[in-house]
Amino acid sequence: MGRLDGKVAFITGSASGIGRAGAILFAGEGAKVAVIDMSRPGGEETVRMTREAGGDATFIETDVTDPASVERAIAATVSRYGKLNVLYNNAGGSTNIDGLVTEVSIDEWWRAIRLDLFGTFLCCRFGIPELIEAGGGSIVNTTSIVAMVGTAKASYTAAKGGVLALTRSMAVAYGKHNIRVNAVAPGATQTERVKEHLAHDKAAWEHAGKASCRSGRAGRRSSYGAVPGVG
Ligand SMILES: NC(=O)c1ccc[n+]([C@@H]2O[C@H](COP(=O)([O-])OP(=O)(O)OC[C@H]3O[C@@H](n4cnc5c(N)ncnc54)[C@H](O)[C@@H]3O)[C@@H](O)[C@H]2O)c1
Repeated sequence: MGRLDGKVAFITGSASGIGRAGAILFAGEGAKVAVIDMSRPGGEETVRMTREAGGDATFIETDVTDPASVERAIAATVSRYGKLNVLYNNAGGSTNIDGLVTEVSIDEWWRAIRLDLFGTFLCCRFGIPELIEAGGGSIVNTTSIVAMVGTAKASYTAAKGGVLALTRSMAVAYGKHNIRVNAVAPGATQTERVKEHLAHDKAAWEHAGKASCRSGRAGRRSSYGAVPGVG
């Protein structure tokens, strides 16, 4: 008997990295998982891995920055599995071209705000009515250690700070509907995307681990369960 038996989870950014690890772990605990991502190959691979591990998952191609796309994805999840119990808003990520307020491009600023903050807002906007319809549920938003300590990546730091504030706002507002709202704040974690960023700079990777993790080293596969997607 799993801890999520009978639950339906909507996990964004689950075609790779931490989101994929989450999808496999949630399904392993008995949840039916909607794998929500822009990447069809990655999303289908997550579904394959989840089913191979004995779980139930469906890929729904979605752009979390597009209101119509998110509305369709929520409707498709409810149509496929009959309800929605868990919203895990994980899609996001920083880039190498983010930087100081006085230097970062306007496009990069809006990319981070649109993906990390607006994407989280949209999934909650369209997902919360379904959680209420189900009698309550759980929202997990992925912020980052940068929301607490600050970094020179102004756009990503501001976006994740916004996710943290939005989490608190929703926790207060939707508790009366039996909805718990929490945030997780990973430190540096060795996903494929992050490895690519730091591939040429081992010192920067070690610094990221020391700066953001109490253990002094970056998160690895064992931090999220022994599943592929997190190195
Ligand atoms: N890896 C780290 O060191 C780290 C540290 C702190 C926080 N985080 C956060 O954890 C989350 C996952 O990070 P990760 O390293 O696993 O990233 P990742 O790049 O491996 O996965 C992100 C996924 O989001 C998807 N995605 C991107 N834009 C999308 C969109 N518009 N619509 C739908 N899907 C979209 C990508 O296709 C990808 O599958 C992110 O929110 C990231 O900011 C990561």
